[in-house]
Amino acid sequence: MVVTVPQHVAIVMDGNGRWAQQHGKKRHAGHKEGVKSVRRVVERAAQAKVKILTMFAFSSENWRRPREEVGLLMDLFMLALKQEIKRLQRNNVRLRIIGDRSRFSQDLQASMVKAELDTAGNSGLILQVAANYGGRWDMTQAVRSLAQQVRDGSVEPDAITEEQISAELSFSDLPDPDLFIRTGGEQRLSNFLLWQSAYAELYFTDVLWPDFHEAEFDAALAAFATRQRRFGLVGEQVTSSKETAG
Ligand code: FPP
Repeated sequence: MVVTVPQHVAIVMDGNGRWAQQHGKKRHAGHKEGVKSVRRVVERAAQAKVKILTMFAFSSENWRRPREEVGLLMDLFMLALKQEIKRLQRNNVRLRIIGDRSRFSQDLQASMVKAELDTAGNSGLILQVAANYGGRWDMTQAVRSLAQQVRDGSVEPDAITEEQISAELSFSDLPDPDLFIRTGGEQRLSNFLLWQSAYAELYFTDVLWPDFHEAEFDAALAAFATRQRRFGLVGEQVTSSKETAG
């Protein structure tokens, strides 16, 4: 049997705080435990031949959390960028950071560039970590860039196409997500990859992110394999085009 593996999986990692609360720990302990889940899922995705994994680590809205939590999350990112490189190299993973980096400290920005450069030659899984990312931010910066091109006279407003908009968004060189996973029980997109997830299959689970182990990731892949993706067509059209394609 041919199992359909999504090329690109996007994940909203939710539930770290509740996991910590359930275990009588501080919220930070939940985020630390969350890093272990990131490690496990990255390795599992690579084994399953997923090509791109995009994980929501910090949203544009997360700055509004208590100062202490934001500070501890920054420390955790810094540590992860330094400590995880060897593991990423071992697993042939290429790291990319998406989002507006300008608000991070100079140190953190420098570590991001270094981690990307160090892993740039890897040919396996592409791991995109979304940091200070928001779908609306992404669209806003795309609109600004197109508006600039209109002002320069290189683009006619009436001639703007979906492809041109896509080309201005984050990771325009990669395919859109096929599968969008959210852990932690909420069923919303929370401003993640709004344009790019237009046709993604959505998968929601109550499992809290630190409890999201390999088996849970496999279950999400299995659910994806049962979905029929129609991209606006009717079911019969999809089935017959698959048969024609052999
Ligand atoms: C949501 O849980 C999680 C976050 C805002 C941070 C995610 C960060 C990590 C998993 C660790 C670092 C990741 C990398 C890639 C190094 P929440 O705090 O909203 O949980 P709650 O809804 O239970 O309060």
